[in-house]
Amino acid sequence: MCGIVGYVGPRRALDVVVEGLRRLEYRGYDSSGVAVIGADGLQVAKKAGRIENLDKELATRSITGSTAMGHTRWATHGAPNDRNAHPHTDASGRVAVIHNGIIENFGALRAELERDGVELVSETDTETVAHLVAAQLEAQGGSLADALRAVCRRLQGAFTLVLLDAQEPDVVVAARRNSPLVLGVGDGETFLGSDVAAFIEFTREAVELGQNQIVEIRRDGYVITDFDGKPAEGTPFHIDWDLTAAEKGGYEYFMLKEIQEQPAAVRDTLLGHLVSGQIVLDEQRFDQQELRDIDKVFIVACGTAYHAGMIGKQAIEHWTRVPVEVEMASEFRYRDPVLDRQTLVVAISQSGETADTLEAVRHARDQRAKVLAICNTNGAQIPRESDAVIYTHAGPEIGVAATKTFLAQVAAVELLGLALAQARGTKYGDEIIREFDDLCSVPDAIAEVLTVVEPVRALAREIAQSKTILFLGRHVGYPVALEGALKLKELAYMHAEGFPAGELKHGPIALIEEGLPVVVVMPSPTGRPLLHQKMLSNVAEIKARGARTIVISEADDSAARNLAAHFIAVPSVPTLLSPFVTTVPLQVLAAEIAQARGCDVDKPRNLAKSVTVE
Ligand code: F6R
Repeated sequence: MCGIVGYVGPRRALDVVVEGLRRLEYRGYDSSGVAVIGADGLQVAKKAGRIENLDKELATRSITGSTAMGHTRWATHGAPNDRNAHPHTDASGRVAVIHNGIIENFGALRAELERDGVELVSETDTETVAHLVAAQLEAQGGSLADALRAVCRRLQGAFTLVLLDAQEPDVVVAARRNSPLVLGVGDGETFLGSDVAAFIEFTREAVELGQNQIVEIRRDGYVITDFDGKPAEGTPFHIDWDLTAAEKGGYEYFMLKEIQEQPAAVRDTLLGHLVSGQIVLDEQRFDQQELRDIDKVFIVACGTAYHAGMIGKQAIEHWTRVPVEVEMASEFRYRDPVLDRQTLVVAISQSGETADTLEAVRHARDQRAKVLAICNTNGAQIPRESDAVIYTHAGPEIGVAATKTFLAQVAAVELLGLALAQARGTKYGDEIIREFDDLCSVPDAIAEVLTVVEPVRALAREIAQSKTILFLGRHVGYPVALEGALKLKELAYMHAEGFPAGELKHGPIALIEEGLPVVVVMPSPTGRPLLHQKMLSNVAEIKARGARTIVISEADDSAARNLAAHFIAVPSVPTLLSPFVTTVPLQVLAAEIAQARGCDVDKPRNLAKSVTVE
């Protein structure tokens, strides 16, 4: 949440940070702003709304300099207007600050500043830092980094802070606690970003900052210390994807490109995980005996990742006979779950930053449970704090709504199921290899679905003005139904609900009225014949009440086809793999309806890609 960019070097710093902000805009788009130090001292420009508004503002100003920072905001404290946009400055305009996170004790700090006669102009928690740092510089002298260290020791909560001081024109200083921050190390230039997309155009050499660290960047490098000033180290890494991965490649929206990239996302996630007939994880910091001793699994995740967890539950329980509970990460630690050394907590998170999931991980570790992360972002906080990791190699996902990372998460959690089955001996080696081979055939099946989604687009345009759309599924089709409804809500701002089809008769069937579109995700007629039969009855029940039935099933499912007003055929795959093919038409449906309703598919209102607040 919130995107941060910093730069010191020979280029026109304003251009570097504005370009970086464009790449980070998926992290929040309530406002954007920049601060630059140049011949005219420290200058700030900021505007509510998308970066285009900032561009217009910058076109009226002449701002030059080689030290700069920029911010794109997802509002927490204070409405998304010009006044609350970052950067914020102290009263004299000497110090400017941008921030991602929440300073939890800002109320007390603000009251203290007001008692001292400081007038705060915004409603943000961030502005307090500008005044506190300026007061510290005034009272104690020293460098900007010294002053920031002193202030950070007083801050509670999560923050990445980046500051400029008009009196130190060649340095950008940043602090990090529980919010992301990476450095880009170039030749005679240094960058800061919430993630590497901010500077990938200029360098592939990056350094991940640790917790409670401060960094000073200059043209010739960087210095890292902790909040007490002791020397500290970051974690250097090489960025192995390039700029084209984060560009639209001819598609109108990133999300449309990312839907097409799903076969590769799943293929790359599976790659290298079967070695000499054995399933291997990416990072493994517990031993086989510990895996064998696990007697209970919790999967914790949010939103789309939670749906991936629901599918994973079916696979893990089926293959290992170990009970699995799937929990919304935001609820997990607050309800005091029963955890011990034999519990495995699986945290699924595309970003690896989600505050709800991170706190669930910390709670699990406090209780001595083992934690395995499934994550798309190398070196992010959640995998760093976990005992084992499976990375989803989906590449950068820029569209705010998750698509390719969802299918990659499903692949990773099923891989985990096989790893557990192997360690516990609940499946023979050859069975595991067969299941893994089936997983490896999934990318082709997804590619096949992608070739036949044109009728889904036409259907989407027909139903785009419906007041609501319902989604029904059973077994692994239920989380797919939930995911279909979530995509529609977030992209098209349309009311949608997903239900387990069997529940319908216990209440929700009252919603059915003439012409109401209901999307049904059918179980396989051969894989789950009994469930298929029950589902046919459920479809007949809603059809009898006037629903417009949109049925997704295998091409030769003639019984379902007979009940369908619109039939969407998908290839036949093993039951536990069916979400890979049934999800795709629902993503296309939501994206197309969103476009028909004039919504911004990549940047739905009120949302941000990385949710770093609880
Ligand atoms: C929906 C979506 C969100 C995320 C959720 C978790 O399209 O993207 O529901 O799935 O915010 O995010 P991560 O996976 O980064 O923890």
